[in-house]
Amino acid sequence: MSDVTFRPFTWSDVPALTEIYRHYVDETVITFETEAPGEAAMAERFGKLLDLGHPLIIAECGGRAIGYAYASFYRPRAAYRFTCEDSIYLAKDAVGKGIGGRLLDELMAQCRVAGFKQMIAVITAERANSVRLHEKAGFRHVGRYEAVGYKFDRWLDIVHLQKAL
Ligand SMILES: CC(C)(COP(=O)(O)OP(=O)(O)OC[C@H]1O[C@@H](n2cnc3c(N)ncnc32)[C@H](O)[C@@H]1OP(=O)(O)O)[C@@H](O)C(=O)NCCC(=O)NCCS
Repeated sequence: MSDVTFRPFTWSDVPALTEIYRHYVDETVITFETEAPGEAAMAERFGKLLDLGHPLIIAECGGRAIGYAYASFYRPRAAYRFTCEDSIYLAKDAVGKGIGGRLLDELMAQCRVAGFKQMIAVITAERANSVRLHEKAGFRHVGRYEAVGYKFDRWLDIVHLQKAL
């Protein structure tokens, strides 16, 4: 996957991104959602990001969308408006090849342009690769919430990492 490029989202990406995300909802504790959204719900989510002018980036390889990254408000209330939360999801066969780090770099660059000042990563504590990805990008650990998630019959901690943009 050496020829990975990054580009803006288009509506024709919705089926591929829905499939990418479905895997993580159905099979992992990476997301705390427990019922995978269909294409209409995913399109609605992406539409809201576009309406707000928030970055939504597609990683493409060989004409196929193999991952995506976006920034959303960390919290909806107005005083949080300069603080975003990042999300990155790669297709299963695209994991472990360094693409996530490149997507995160691109996302941070676009978030600076969009006017965000702080980025927060909210990560299931046991996901060492995601934690490492953010540490390498200069994020620092700012907190841990214990047993705030319950999925697949077990309690899950989350960690927060933060970077000033
Ligand atoms: C998390 C994700 C974005 C990371 O992107 P990636 O391109 O797969 O990242 P990599 O596998 O290249 O690994 C990132 C770092 O974690 C390290 N790592 C991988 N597995 C690890 C483990 N079990 N323990 C510690 N470090 C680990 C890698 O060595 C790498 O560090 P390095 O560059 O210093 O060697 C991607 O795997 C993904 O989309 N996963 C599923 C969804 C997800 O977890 N999203 C994060 C929510 S924000």
